[in-house]
Amino acid sequence: MTERKDRREFLKGLGIGAGVVALGGQSVAALRSLVPNVSYDAPTTVKIGAPGEFPDGMKFLPEQRLFVFREGKVFHAISAVCTHLGCTVRAEALPRAETKTVEGQPLKLTHRFLCPCHGSRYEGDGQNVAGPAPRPLDWYHLELALDDGQLVVDLAKPVDRDFRLTIA
Ligand code: FES
Repeated sequence: MTERKDRREFLKGLGIGAGVVALGGQSVAALRSLVPNVSYDAPTTVKIGAPGEFPDGMKFLPEQRLFVFREGKVFHAISAVCTHLGCTVRAEALPRAETKTVEGQPLKLTHRFLCPCHGSRYEGDGQNVAGPAPRPLDWYHLELALDDGQLVVDLAKPVDRDFRLTIA
């Protein structure tokens, strides 16, 4: 008789425990829904230095995986992220600068890009010309920061290849 009662008490306790666990789970879910989904990703807009810190020609920024080109007062930036599987492409200086018409605008090409992973090749405007890369390298938007005049790149804002930032 006592054994039977103990068993009943045990099963009753088990039922209450399961209920508490279920309610606890719902409460956690309800509380979680009150917390906004905040993304803690790194900002995509980055200051990369004063225009005077960029020599005429090309400067590679390893942290941003970015090539910044300067021709006098005119700047543009090309991503170093290979469009195949994301390796960092290497720049190779051309023996002699060439001019190419890109999206209706002349562009002086001083380099071309090679991907060490699977051999993709890109022209100096980022156009893919060989290997498995499915599309050209991205160009990114540049502007001047209002507070200190540094160049600012927006790594989430690809632009057309006729984009240029001309500084006064
Ligand atoms: S990651 Fe560049 S060719 Fe594959």
